[in-house]
Amino acid sequence: MVSATLLLAVSTLVPVPPPAPIPGDEGASLPPRDAESGEVYYQRECALCHGLKGEGTSRGSPLRRTNPYYGTSTIREGRTNSKPYDIPMPSYSEQDLPKKKLAEIWSFLRKESVSRSGEGLYNSYCMNCHGIKGEGGITGISLKNKQQVLGLWIRFGGGDDITHIETYMPSFNQLELSDEEIGLISEFLK
Ligand code: HEC
Ligand code: HEC
Repeated sequence: MVSATLLLAVSTLVPVPPPAPIPGDEGASLPPRDAESGEVYYQRECALCHGLKGEGTSRGSPLRRTNPYYGTSTIREGRTNSKPYDIPMPSYSEQDLPKKKLAEIWSFLRKESVSRSGEGLYNSYCMNCHGIKGEGGITGISLKNKQQVLGLWIRFGGGDDITHIETYMPSFNQLELSDEEIGLISEFLK
């Protein structure tokens, strides 16, 4: 008589056949994640915190016109000092999020038009760091009465340590913000 344990041992050696395909569903499969566009990657990974089109949520800042050079550093390093947000910004390596896909994310975010009024420009380019209407925000750097130096700071930026939002300011060229638009921002901050 064959013992129960032996039967069990033998049965574990028999390879389990793959599950039969659901009729009508043969050949249907998800595309490999590598084939995913930057936009789809963004929606899967980032939208929960940054909003479906980069408009921001209570879990993450708006990304509408974040400077890509500075933004890429934030994405690679992550950020832990994320007051006023509860959950820190995770980091994504080159392997998680290759350069090409990241470039697609920047273009996707830039497809969404932003208001080119003084207030709209300020909110899309400066508010994440300097707070509502230049009050100081996360950096604590107020823009009250800074009209004279506004243009210089925008063109040249400041600070060396790109991983610190409190000390690093990215620069913005003519293509991103024209001289006229800097004037509008200046008006808005008066
Ligand atoms: C769990 C929520 C969460 C997820 C997921 C997330 N982020 Fe963030 N992200 C944040 C928070 C919070 C901040 C603000 C951190 C701070 O300012 O200290 C941030 C900041 C950023 C910044 C800097 C913005 C600025 O103006 O300072 C960029 C760029 C960014 N995230 C891009 C992304 C991208 C792209 C993805 C997806 C690949 C992503 N994030 C996924 C929460 C998240
Ligand atoms: C990623 C964060 C960040 C963004 C975005 C940003 N800034 Fe700044 N800004 C800073 C930091 C940090 C400093 C201080 C740098 C230093 O002291 O070297 C600063 C300094 C300044 C100063 C000088 C303040 C002073 O006290 O002399 C002005 C003016 C200014 N920013 C205007 C702007 C405007 C206008 C925008 C939008 C077009 C903007 N910044 C976007 C972080 C930022």
